Order: sequence, then structure tokens, then C-alpha cells
Amino acid sequence: MDTKEALLSQISEPAHGSSNKVTVVGVGQVGMAAAFSILSQGVSSDVVLVDVVADKLKGEMMDLQHGALFLKNARITADTDYAVTAGSKLCVITAGVRQKEGESRLDLVQRNTDVLKHIVPKLVQYSPDTILLVVSNPVDILTYVAWKLSGLPKNRVIGSGTNLDTSRFRFLISQKLGVAPSSVHGWIIGEHGDSSVAIWSGVNVAGVRLRELNPAVGTENDPENWKDIHKQVVNSAYDVIKLKGYTSWAIGLSVASLASSILRNSNNVHAVSTYVKGLHGLEHDVFLSVPAVLGAGGISHAVSQPLSDDERENLHKAATLMAEVQKGLKF
Ligand SMILES: NC(=O)c1ccc[n+]([C@@H]2O[C@H](COP(=O)([O-])OP(=O)(O)OC[C@H]3O[C@@H](n4cnc5c(N)ncnc54)[C@H](O)[C@@H]3O)[C@@H](O)[C@H]2O)c1
Repeated sequence: MDTKEALLSQISEPAHGSSNKVTVVGVGQVGMAAAFSILSQGVSSDVVLVDVVADKLKGEMMDLQHGALFLKNARITADTDYAVTAGSKLCVITAGVRQKEGESRLDLVQRNTDVLKHIVPKLVQYSPDTILLVVSNPVDILTYVAWKLSGLPKNRVIGSGTNLDTSRFRFLISQKLGVAPSSVHGWIIGEHGDSSVAIWSGVNVAGVRLRELNPAVGTENDPENWKDIHKQVVNSAYDVIKLKGYTSWAIGLSVASLASSILRNSNNVHAVSTYVKGLHGLEHDVFLSVPAVLGAGGISHAVSQPLSDDERENLHKAATLMAEVQKGLKF
């Protein structure tokens, strides 16, 4: 009898699997920030990492495992073989190339489509009931690609979309007002990128719309220049990449908030990329962000947000741009 057997008298077979298993594909800056946020907030107790670079993957796994004591004893595993992902409730895709200084998200499209071709079929093979959350850029187009490659219903293929842009927007407004970001309500929808749409008509604090106080808020004619905040949102990633080379913490936290709504079946509303054909009169086969209800089945509803003529027109322009880029994709 060895020490383990002397210590532990077996009563039954230990249970396998967990109800909140999350796979993160890609252990780069974004994948690790997402995994760390998910673990440190206790969103999942069972996190699997996958990457093609075996040494880095093992190193990241070990580094996190050494903190398991401080992470409510979460189970942290990693492998280059997708068998380890079997039974995941949620698979987060962060693999692929990122923007270099001056590069737009759309510049990455064919390279990251090729990366997804290797990843998505394997994830679905091992976890046919999973929800896919795409983070790799350009996220709206890659969410469409993941949907096509996976064969999953559209409610279960989600892009992290403008959940991050919305957080940036609320933070920047909160700075201008001296009110906490969680008390500033406002939404960025459309493309996660250069053509995102700020819904200034709905920005409010405690139900008081800024437009009621200053009808020019968010327009070119506004003496207070609130519109500049949306420009800062659009430039955020470029600014951070110029300063530190990549973005990580905010997107990691944003992913953890989405994962939490899904795994807890909370029905929180987030701006995420979803199949928008039929919404707001959109006719293209594209994914763009709108406020959507997130729960255990993925997206159950899109919120029918009243849009001004300008906002609707900008959303339509983004949809046309996405459809144009998709036409040229090989997959
Ligand atoms: N949606 C958003 O809001 C948002 C925000 C920031 C970054 N991003 C995007 O996330 C992606 C990752 O960014 P990053 O900074 O973590 O990049 P990174 O270069 O630090 O990491 C990418 C990782 O992907 C891995 N990888 C590449 N091909 C793979 C494959 N076939 N299978 C498994 N793993 C593979 C690499 O080995 C690497 O570890 C980029 O596309 C970036 O533009 C999205």
C-alpha cells in the first residue's frame, strides 16, 4: 500500500468533467489575460489552454497551476491535442496574428481565417454542444467564418465584438462626468473596429439622457465636443498598441464578463457580435454587434434598440463593408 492508498480509502470513483469547463485557444497576450480573468474571478473552475507552441503552452499552464491554491483550486490543463478540450461549455478563440503598429484589424483577415480552419472543426468535434466565443481579429468577420466552419446554430457562435468598445466608451464618459463607468449607460454597436457606431441618442446617467440636456451631444455641432470620445474609442487599440505593443487586460476582462453571463445563465445584455441579417433592416449575411441577451444557450435575443437615421446608416455601411471583405475570403 503506498502513501496515497494509506491516506485515502476509496468510497467511489471520482466524478469526471465539470459544468463550467472553458477552453481558451491561443496563449498569447489576449488568451492569457482572458484565462487569468476567468480564473481569478472564479468564472470557471476548469480551464483548458491550447496552442501550437508546445513550450510556451506548458510554461503558461505551469505558471497558472502554481497559483491554483489562490484560485479556489481550479483545474488548469493544457495540450496541443484538442482531446483535452472535450466537453467544454465554452471555447474562446484568441489564436492568430495581431495588429502591428499602423495595421488595421481588417488587414489580418485571410491569415486568421486560415488559423481558424485548423481550430474550429477540432473544437466542435470534441465539444459538439459548446458555445464558441471568437476574439481574434477582425472579430466580426472571423465570427462569420467560425459560424460557417462549425456548422453550429447562430445563437452558439458569438464574437466578443463591441463589448470592449462599449467598456471603453463608458469609461471615457465616466472620466468626463466624474461618475463610475457602471453608472454611465451607453452602447457602441456595429463593427469592432474603425466603423463602430456610438449610440449617443441613448447615453444616460440614471435614466437622464445627455441628449435631453444638450441636443448636440455626439454631433459635429456640439460645442462640448462629446463626439471626440467616440474617436478615442476607435483609436484606443491603436494608441495602446503604439505604447505597449498589444492590448490585453481590458479584452481579457471583457471576455471574462461574457463567459460569466454564459456559464451562470444570467441573461445579461452585452454588445456582442451576432448574425444581424433581418435586424435594423440589414440584408447582408454578416455578424455585427448589437446589445444581446447572453445565457447558457448563447444569444437568446437581440435588443431592438431605436436608432437615429445617422446611426442606422452607419450600421448599414459597416454591414456592406463586412460583406465586401467576406466575398474575397478563401475558406
Ligand atoms: N476582439 C478584440 O477585442 C481583441 C482585442 C485584442 C486583440 N484581439 C485579437 O486577438 C488575437 C490574439 O492577440 P494576441 O495579442 O494574444 O496575439 P499573440 O501573438 O500574443 O498570441 C497569439 C497566439 O496564437 C497562437 N496561435 C497561432 N496559430 C495558432 C493555431 N493554429 N492554433 C492554436 N494557437 C495558435 C500563437 O502561438 C500565439 O500564442 C489577435 O488576432 C488580436 O488582433 C482581439
